[in-house]
Amino acid sequence: MRQENNMQIYLIGFMGSGKTSTGTELAKLMDRELLDSDELIVQQEGKSIPEIFAESGEEGFRKIETEIFRNLSQNDNDYIISCGGGAPLREENVALMRRNGRIVRLTATAQTVYDRVKGDDNRPLLQSDDPMKRIRTLMSMRERAYSEAADITVSTDGRTPLMVATELARILTK
Ligand code: S3P
Repeated sequence: MRQENNMQIYLIGFMGSGKTSTGTELAKLMDRELLDSDELIVQQEGKSIPEIFAESGEEGFRKIETEIFRNLSQNDNDYIISCGGGAPLREENVALMRRNGRIVRLTATAQTVYDRVKGDDNRPLLQSDDPMKRIRTLMSMRERAYSEAADITVSTDGRTPLMVATELARILTK
């Protein structure tokens, strides 16, 4: 069993919940390195996320994502890992995260998510004529997976990434 202070920190939550921006601040505060599962996928495949979805579909993307979590669970470094929003939907991914990490869920309302992601064409699942409706539907479909996976949950609504990261650093180093 790992020592508590030598565990990875996995940030999960819906698209636009602030995983990468909060992770950036948290990494500075805790003097750790930040990894991003989407970035690892893009580097490994040499393709953008929309390209992977277009060529292999969501299922193809999810298979690669799980490979990434398998590799991360075998890594002994104490990274902070910003996870793609759909990662907790696969039980295997959550089990892999638990193996060597603590799982932190960031939340945001549908309106906050919409304001943060509007105009962004890098998220294939939100390409829709009615993105707000899509956000609400996906959020409610995913609520249970997120809440069951989380060890710690923190809201990001109306708060800067630094404010959220400061609260998390305090909780995580207690
Ligand atoms: C996804 C979220 C994205 C990315 C992919 C699928 C999802 O990551 O992994 O577009 O299913 O919620 P972010 O949460 O970093 O946007």
